[in-house]
Amino acid sequence: MIFDRVKSLDAILATAEKKSLHRSLGAFQLTMLGIGAIIGTGIFVLTAAAAQKAGPGMMFSFVIAGFVCAVAALCYSELASMVPVSGSAYTYTYAVLGELMAWTVGWALILEYAVAASAVCVGWSGYVMGLVHSTTGFSLPEFLASGPAWGLNGFIPTVDFSHGVINLPAIVVAGLVTWLLVLGTSESANVNAVLVAIKVTALTAFIVLSLPILKGENFSPLMPTGFFGENGLGVVGAAASIFFAYVGFDAVSTAAEETKNPQRNVPIGLIGSLGICTIFYLLVAAGVVGTVGAQPVRDAAGMVLSPDGVAFADRCAQLKNLGENPIACSKEALAETLRLMNFGLVGDLVGLAASIALPSVILMMIYGQTRIFFVMARDGLLPEKLADVHPKFKTPWKMTIFTGICVAVAGAFFPVGQLADISNSGTLFAFFMVALAVMILRHKDPGRHRPFRTPFVWIVAPLAAAGCLGLYLNLPLIAKLVLPIWGSIGLLIYFLYSRGHSHVGRGLAEVHELDTDAPPPVV
Ligand code: ALA
Repeated sequence: MIFDRVKSLDAILATAEKKSLHRSLGAFQLTMLGIGAIIGTGIFVLTAAAAQKAGPGMMFSFVIAGFVCAVAALCYSELASMVPVSGSAYTYTYAVLGELMAWTVGWALILEYAVAASAVCVGWSGYVMGLVHSTTGFSLPEFLASGPAWGLNGFIPTVDFSHGVINLPAIVVAGLVTWLLVLGTSESANVNAVLVAIKVTALTAFIVLSLPILKGENFSPLMPTGFFGENGLGVVGAAASIFFAYVGFDAVSTAAEETKNPQRNVPIGLIGSLGICTIFYLLVAAGVVGTVGAQPVRDAAGMVLSPDGVAFADRCAQLKNLGENPIACSKEALAETLRLMNFGLVGDLVGLAASIALPSVILMMIYGQTRIFFVMARDGLLPEKLADVHPKFKTPWKMTIFTGICVAVAGAFFPVGQLADISNSGTLFAFFMVALAVMILRHKDPGRHRPFRTPFVWIVAPLAAAGCLGLYLNLPLIAKLVLPIWGSIGLLIYFLYSRGHSHVGRGLAEVHELDTDAPPPVV
């Protein structure tokens, strides 16, 4: 039997009980924590890709993605409050669906965390380079500031170096953040509060300056690529990409064990942070559409181009030479919109805000990744040597450096939109499994104490599973293909290595007293 290795929920809970973190977070802090983890590259950068995919209809995309996240978040919270130990969806799945499924979720979470970190590195690179250019006139040569463009010829990957070879700034920021993590930096609640304030101020300034000068005609045609477009285009295609803008809300679920009255405060924190971000995103999207227009870039034949392809980069370069700056071509959509509106200084300040705040999103993502690796190694599914803790800094340094190198390499050689889409495919899979796990556990173990219960679970959980599946199916083909390919590599490793080394499989008891061998939490 391959589904027989279930980690005992009681053993996991024994760990959690001993760990017993002080319950100090209230609804307000949780909401701040959520906003801090959520706002990042998605709204600052991917708004351009969303405009290319859906035109003004991207406003609906933000709402659709926000809704799927909200129902997924409600499911996530039930498991997070029941199984409040490190490892997030991986640990929950271990307890409910068994080791094999947990392995696939943990493996998919690598896509969520590490690839998302790379995407944010590339997003940061676009903003910093834009800011440097705007304030000093200096630009890095194109081949050093962007990675190559990737495509598919049938099912064969193609790569084109005509608009970039390597993204140096993305490597630099990945290296700096990794270094901070090896030294043991973690983000404190105070730093988070300052960064939330910076991000919210930047978005508010954007909204306040843009909304009064919206032009109605810019909203037409509203959905130039349709609702269900082809090849990742259309409103739902843009929603599948812009889903990235909401990733990070799991930070709220994961803090369930440190929350006072979680039954009340966790849903307030989740729905509050997602609701606030959705409203901000919607207003920002309306601001972009209404001021500078967000119609997609088309080729000479009038076809809408996919935002990550070579043809799109060629067309953007052509339009730039003609003095046109469609927002869909921008690497720093919000700063550029403000500059096009003649608010150059505010545009630079928004660029500065993004440059300051985005590294903290990278930090949380790489940190989250090392923690998942750590728990998987502790369970014997990955080489335990990787989990070695540095004698002086007390951090899992080997794992952190390994993760940092992977993040830097992906950031160096892939465009932000493709990285975000690939990250989404892993995240959507993990959330899909969590929705299933909630339903299975309700059925198998209805009497167990649940500090937080998903409201209307038999409606919310199926909606979450269907929403995740629906968004996944609307991702571009490359991102859709990566998940099964990545999954197959994972299964190979599982059967060749992990299954034989698994502690549960070898009958080793798995209660980690006090959980002190895990690195400290981020917040
Ligand atoms: N939601 C985060 C961002 O947009 C991952 O950067």
